[in-house]
Amino acid sequence: MVSESFNLENIVRKNILKLKPYRCARDDYNTGTLLDANENTYGAVTNLCVKDGALLETPKKDELEANRYPDPLARKVKNRFIKLRNIDSVDNVFVGVGSDEVIDIVVRVFCEPKKDKILITPPTYGMYSVVANINDVGIEAINLITENGSFQLNTSEVVKKLEEDSEIKIVFLCSPGNPTGTSLDLKDIEKILNSRYNGIVVVDEAYVDFVSADDNQYSLAQMATKYKNLVVMQTLSKSFGLAGVRLGFGISNPAIIELFNRIKPPYNISVLSQEYGYLALSDDSLAVMKHIVGKIKSQRDNFLVPKLVELPGINAILGGNNANFVLAQFVDSDGSPDNQLASFVYKTCADSLGLVIRFRGNEPGCEGCLRVSVGTPTENVQLVEKIRRAVEMYNANN
Ligand SMILES: Cc1ncc(COP(=O)(O)O)c(C=O)c1O
Repeated sequence: MVSESFNLENIVRKNILKLKPYRCARDDYNTGTLLDANENTYGAVTNLCVKDGALLETPKKDELEANRYPDPLARKVKNRFIKLRNIDSVDNVFVGVGSDEVIDIVVRVFCEPKKDKILITPPTYGMYSVVANINDVGIEAINLITENGSFQLNTSEVVKKLEEDSEIKIVFLCSPGNPTGTSLDLKDIEKILNSRYNGIVVVDEAYVDFVSADDNQYSLAQMATKYKNLVVMQTLSKSFGLAGVRLGFGISNPAIIELFNRIKPPYNISVLSQEYGYLALSDDSLAVMKHIVGKIKSQRDNFLVPKLVELPGINAILGGNNANFVLAQFVDSDGSPDNQLASFVYKTCADSLGLVIRFRGNEPGCEGCLRVSVGTPTENVQLVEKIRRAVEMYNANN
């Protein structure tokens, strides 16, 4: 387990520890005639119309009560989420405006601006650094081992750095990684958790449902409720197809979750988002999610990976292919990674062929790489053809 000397109070920013959180109206009472929050009790204008001077409900009225502030703790959503992930209690869960809000909140709870630091393991998701920069928090980096596209943690170096540098308050691990698509070895994460490091370990599981193993077995979500210093992040943006709704989760022990709730805006999750989240986590929607995830995995493994590696100019698909995207590496005629070709393909696809993918050639271990999301079968056929055409156009001019 985590080092004996770990003490949450020692690593929380002092101002957050002392903070008296804002108490919103809905924290106190939520039944009765509610005239305590300066809401408009006539109703939402979208549910009403004025006819001959009279206020009437529209025939297509929704049942959302959008004129009321939402539940500050999004409890209906959490109750369904804990069932899905086999988590003990809603007190183990924080709901954010996407997992991006969880990243922001964890940094603001634990990192003193101009003093503390985070550790990242590039190539990795860019928002950890952006949030650190916004908050004037330093960034240390220990690259993943990139040989042969393995994209695993350099665990001994990570542990050494974390044990040595007490200003590092958070290490962000992304598993499966973006842009690597690779699940980290759980034993490596456990080594970090069991080290003498006295800070917070965040494991970003945005893509966990696409792992080719039993999802709940691979995920650290249940473990996060037992450890003193582990936070697992998940989201409805990927496998659930709700990127536009902005719902993400932080899973941890209740003491850490309470700190997150302290600093979040009182009503961070809208009535609409809570309703979407509640519906998305129903048994019917879960069955749909699993069905679609099966299709995406099958398209990834049985179509995109084999078809892309056959294309001229592509050497290999790097990484473990455990997410809903693949990382294709373009090479020159000598077989060396070729950023010029990859950039040309990227630009040509976007500007001339109506296909938008992502250039990732400047990330460590990703030279010559484009990251491609797995689409529908029709989109995937078009994707392969368009990349083939772009490579042909490049070869014709070079
Ligand atoms: C690894 C990773 N974490 C977090 C996010 C943010 O997700 P959300 O939509 O929940 O904010 C993304 C989005 O692309 C991601 O790739």
